[in-house]
Amino acid sequence: MNYIGSKFKLSHFLQTSIESTLQKAYAKPLKDSIFCDIFAGTSAVGRLFKTQVKQVISNDKEYYSFVLSKNYIDNHQTLPRAQELLEILNCTQQTPPIQSKIYTNYALGGGSGRQYFSNENAMKIDAVRTRIQEWKESGFIDEKEYYFLLASLLESADKIANTASVYGAFLKTLKKSAIKPLVLTPANFECNKNEHLVFNEDANAIIARIKGDILYLDPPYNSREYGANYHLLNTIALYDDFIPKGKTGLREYQKSNWCKKAKVASELESLIKNANFEWIFLSYNDEGILSLEQIRAIFENYGRYSLKSQKHQRFKADSKRIQKQDSTREYLHILQKY
Ligand SMILES: C[S@@+](CC[C@H](N)C(=O)[O-])C[C@H]1O[C@@H](n2cnc3c(N)ncnc32)[C@H](O)[C@@H]1O
Repeated sequence: MNYIGSKFKLSHFLQTSIESTLQKAYAKPLKDSIFCDIFAGTSAVGRLFKTQVKQVISNDKEYYSFVLSKNYIDNHQTLPRAQELLEILNCTQQTPPIQSKIYTNYALGGGSGRQYFSNENAMKIDAVRTRIQEWKESGFIDEKEYYFLLASLLESADKIANTASVYGAFLKTLKKSAIKPLVLTPANFECNKNEHLVFNEDANAIIARIKGDILYLDPPYNSREYGANYHLLNTIALYDDFIPKGKTGLREYQKSNWCKKAKVASELESLIKNANFEWIFLSYNDEGILSLEQIRAIFENYGRYSLKSQKHQRFKADSKRIQKQDSTREYLHILQKY
């Protein structure tokens, strides 16, 4: 998924930086360690460590992200019926299109004036989402299959969305990829023997209740709220009775303190203070609300601090700014907590 702040392209930098730091000063083997990805987003970082550590704890305050983590992190054993279930959902005869929440509110045919999806794809999303719920409620599928199917729907719907990249606005005419019919592709996950934990909470609320060895922090860097930019993914995942507002059809969402200049420093300080983890790694780029010096000052109050960095290609949504500057510098702040 093309996601604001995704660390997919920085996987190598993160993995090698974290591993080399630990090799020098950490006595415990990685395979016996608990790794927490507390701002999980697409689960890209938790997935990197899932097969290497004893347990991954994954958390994000957005529900669509929770669904992705329930599949990519929590699911760890093969689902024998995965292919068969996807085939039923993809088949028009077995899962015929219906006009429901997505069609009514986010396709032109529904009369809302919004065009986040083609009429056909919106009806197919409605049909698939409704069928997944029916299967869950009748006991035909279990929780593992439920999250696998929901994650597959979220990823596949995102590919045919009629947006420039995020869901803050839709395009006036259907773009090429949005005309293609929705096809559910499997949201494949890594299998291993270990049990993992997934939460859907505010990071500062959950931090006091969890304990581990390595805490990875990747909070928002600026005022762009994920609940607003990805509201449609929450709507597909929750499929609740929501009220879409205004031209863009935004649903109500909870703002994040990490997106507020006045609150972010105290939010970071309290997270670090309350963390029951020896190692803390924070990703932040050079255009974030917090400066390098502010972060360093906070970290140095709680242990031994160091810093690594790498150049990084900017997220696509910032296309206007790409013309001015191609890349940003991505920092990895490191703390060994006393
Ligand atoms: C930079 S993104 C993380 C990207 C992720 N590492 C990836 O590679 O996909 C920041 C994430 O923090 C989440 N978030 C924002 N405020 C939060 C909060 N107070 N508690 C937990 N998660 C929060 C957002 O929903 C978003 O998914």
